Amino acid sequence: MNHIILIGFMGAGKTTVGQALAEKLHRSFIDTDQLIEETAGMSIPAIFAEQGEDAFRCAETAVLEKLLAMGEPAVISTGGGLPLRKENREILKELGTVVYLKVSKETVLDRLKGDTTRPLLYGEDADQRVEDLLLERGPLYVQAAHEVICVDGKTVPAIIKELEERMSDQI
Ligand code: S3P
Repeated sequence: MNHIILIGFMGAGKTTVGQALAEKLHRSFIDTDQLIEETAGMSIPAIFAEQGEDAFRCAETAVLEKLLAMGEPAVISTGGGLPLRKENREILKELGTVVYLKVSKETVLDRLKGDTTRPLLYGEDADQRVEDLLLERGPLYVQAAHEVICVDGKTVPAIIKELEERMSDQI
């Protein structure tokens, strides 16, 4: 399929870049986290608190399976942990071109200071947690992606320009 899918760590800008890109390409924008919240009728922190992370990960797979049935090429942004499951990485590749927005620990911590919507970063020692998660997830993001774009210090228009250049044969 022909979608553009953005993956990467929390705070990489997947939603912001995805929305702007969708607007520019006149495509619809889909956010997997938002779809999960709508389907569950609950916020992500509430899903984590009441049903646990595993239930959330199952909901991510279910959303991807639904997206496989969707025809029109869209821009899809994903939750930061969605590519962790092998089956999800496989579905992502079926859905279209997967772009990994790569971000450093410093940028993540700076952008997510005071954020209360990401249960994985609650509590003490967010710094160490981000470092550990980035180490663990980095190779999986690369495995899942067709393109990797470093986003540190770049504006949204600059990221979109780079993305369009890389994908000039497809968009
Ligand atoms: C998660 C990232 C979040 C959200 C959930 C879990 C993760 O999405 O899906 O809190 O495991 O990294 P964003 O990447 O949009 O913050």
